[in-house]
Amino acid sequence: MKLARRAQGIGASPTLAMNARAKEMKKQGIDIISFTVGEPDFNTPDHIAAAGISAIEKGFTRYTPAAGLPELKEAICAKLKRDNGLEYQAADVVVSNGAKHSIYNVLQALIDEGDEVIVPAPYWVSYTEMIKLNGGTPVVVATRAENGFKLTPEALAESLTPRTRAIFLNTPNNPTGAVYSRRELEQLAEVLVPRGVVIIADEVYEKLLYDGIVMTSVASLGPEVKALTVLINGVSKTYAMTGWRIGYAAAPRELAQAMANIQSHATSNPNSIAQQAAIAALNGPQEPAQQMLAEFAKRRARMVEGINAIPGLSCRKPEGAFYVFADTSDLYGQTIRGQKITDSISLAEFLLTEAHVALVPGVAFGDDRFVRFSYATSMENIDKGLQRIKDVLTEVR
Ligand SMILES: Cc1ncc(COP(=O)(O)O)c(C=O)c1O
Repeated sequence: MKLARRAQGIGASPTLAMNARAKEMKKQGIDIISFTVGEPDFNTPDHIAAAGISAIEKGFTRYTPAAGLPELKEAICAKLKRDNGLEYQAADVVVSNGAKHSIYNVLQALIDEGDEVIVPAPYWVSYTEMIKLNGGTPVVVATRAENGFKLTPEALAESLTPRTRAIFLNTPNNPTGAVYSRRELEQLAEVLVPRGVVIIADEVYEKLLYDGIVMTSVASLGPEVKALTVLINGVSKTYAMTGWRIGYAAAPRELAQAMANIQSHATSNPNSIAQQAAIAALNGPQEPAQQMLAEFAKRRARMVEGINAIPGLSCRKPEGAFYVFADTSDLYGQTIRGQKITDSISLAEFLLTEAHVALVPGVAFGDDRFVRFSYATSMENIDKGLQRIKDVLTEVR
């Protein structure tokens, strides 16, 4: 069958693909340790799940307003004020089927054919594909590990053209864990605001911060920046609610309205039951989220220490999220067990088949010198998986 051009240029998400391969091997009875997952391994906290159950029991199973329940929008506005010091009205908020869907809506509402969208690399895998699906051109701008994987104002200024329409700023970052300071964001905003570039601020990992690092929400830099910013967040990562599919955007009114209209024709409202659960997540006790963070902090320490003890691997300590982006480029060109390691894909393949450890190759995030480890898995798995990698890599010659 002849597919549309837009479909021909798009592949499956590489993180999901690697995860699927690992699952397939597991099914065959092979004991695979997976560091590929992009979701907390905890259950949704009880009080949130109970709100979902109660919604079903009460028959709260019909259409809601397409852009989300007024009560949920109010809970989101209250959260944005409480946590981020931001004033939004319910009409500025669009609730969608996950933050991924919110981002898709933004691009649908904003991008015309040939518009450029800046994507600092390493980047979350779906940004570039979603830009392409909407007729835009991703302009990937490399960052450097020496700069903490953060975009500099100089590199940003060089990447702007008259066609630049928007930029993705993902803090804390997937896959690097980098968190921009207020000053760093201000310096970027000084370049962006005079050019009227829209900032798509992806803050889904905002609650996963370590070592006392403070989150600055891009929109909080001031009214001029807020007027150009679409804030993206959701409940997936903070409340272990990935399967419930609730994300949201808070945006300048005109853009929010356009997104709501698009959503009303594409998907209608996000799941009514999940919306009730999201209200409980945002308005309810935050201790379960803090407990998860405390556990992630312990795992991060073990993961970073373990990776740096493996010959050929090195990593910096991520400030946020639950990933470690490890430099594996020292191994490229080496032959292990008769297999030549040439790049992040051949290394990930090698470690999957020989060490039975699944990782996501860095090329998927726009940097082939690295692989991504997720520590959203048990301490036992971290120890076991890292030991397996160490065992095979010490055979390097
Ligand atoms: C950077 C980033 N943004 C957005 C999302 C989407 O989250 P969700 O659609 O589950 O809300 C993810 C999920 O992996 C992510 O890593």
